[in-house]
Amino acid sequence: MRKKLFEVLTVSVFIAAILAGCSEQSIEEVESETAASVASTEEEKEMTPADMKVGVCIYKFSDVYMSLFKEELKKDLVKAGFREENITIVNAAVSHGYQMLQLKKLINAGVDILVVNPVNTYKTAEVTDLAMDAGVPLVYVNREPDAADEIRWENDNLSVTYIGCDARQAGAIQGKIISDLGFENVDKNGDGVLQYFMVKGEKDNADTYFRTRYSVDALKNAGWNVEQLADGNGNWDKNVSEFVVTKALEENPAPEVIFCNNDTMAIGALEAVSKAGLVAGQDVQIVGADAFEGALENILAGKIAGTVFNNYVEQARLTTGTILSYMKKQNVAHFYGSDYVKVTKENAETILGIIRDGEKTSEDEEIQTEWAQ
Ligand code: GAL
Repeated sequence: MRKKLFEVLTVSVFIAAILAGCSEQSIEEVESETAASVASTEEEKEMTPADMKVGVCIYKFSDVYMSLFKEELKKDLVKAGFREENITIVNAAVSHGYQMLQLKKLINAGVDILVVNPVNTYKTAEVTDLAMDAGVPLVYVNREPDAADEIRWENDNLSVTYIGCDARQAGAIQGKIISDLGFENVDKNGDGVLQYFMVKGEKDNADTYFRTRYSVDALKNAGWNVEQLADGNGNWDKNVSEFVVTKALEENPAPEVIFCNNDTMAIGALEAVSKAGLVAGQDVQIVGADAFEGALENILAGKIAGTVFNNYVEQARLTTGTILSYMKKQNVAHFYGSDYVKVTKENAETILGIIRDGEKTSEDEEIQTEWAQ
């Protein structure tokens, strides 16, 4: 939109210059007067959410977490005064090349801001360059860009922000959920070592790496002896996880814990152990992350030991707040974080309430007030 305004004014400078040729004014004088009036028009014109075009690109629409996030973000933006027809949300279908193409299209369509859930967090420098060259502020969500790119935002003072969680915290909480159960209750075969499976998300993903590492480290730090019997990439997907766990059970039929990097994979693991005749929650402890409805119901039923709430409601709100701050040309930080919350049978009902009814926690209220200032 800004580009179009510029083009119209450039044409009028040209016409004015031709007309001025017939009068006393020089072309230089006309140009400088017109430039001054362009500047003051632009200064006066304060953008409102209703004028703003937002482009959002999600790495994969069928990812459960991202689909909850994108719906919440849309709802939140509309509540903040953005017009639904000005919000374009596209699916990168797990292709970095396709994501780049879509971002170019969004820029050409005149978006004022980009929200990107990157397909490849090691290639975000390309995304950052694209947005910065076009003069469009950029908000990354959920998948943290690599450190080299982030350092550049700081050093070059770029209008780029990442909104998400610290995956180390999720891993540490997963380990704590298991250690809280007590070693003697989890070490079913009584050999003094905890035998586990690790069902991981996608390769080359910060959530996968840190959740995997910190969950096991938490047990080691609690003084537990641990042994990994099997691991595999479930790619955040229920069916892939069920396949991975079914295969692992053929070799190792009695794992004591199954760590899953997210809840859809925890549900896949639950299916696999149940089909193999194990009683989840008794013979084997399963732990996930995200706090999806299905996982929370299984926690309440005693089949899944716990999960870690990945608060998409809060993350969507932070994203809307950041967009508004860029719009108002305020100072925006390069990172806004959301804390993970430990979920077990004790608080699963409360978290269910939050995700089912959008019920507000006092923490949510604080965040809203913060952004309203
Ligand atoms: C994680 C989330 C997963 C999956 C992944 C995609 O934060 O826990 O369920 O959505 O992001 O990168």
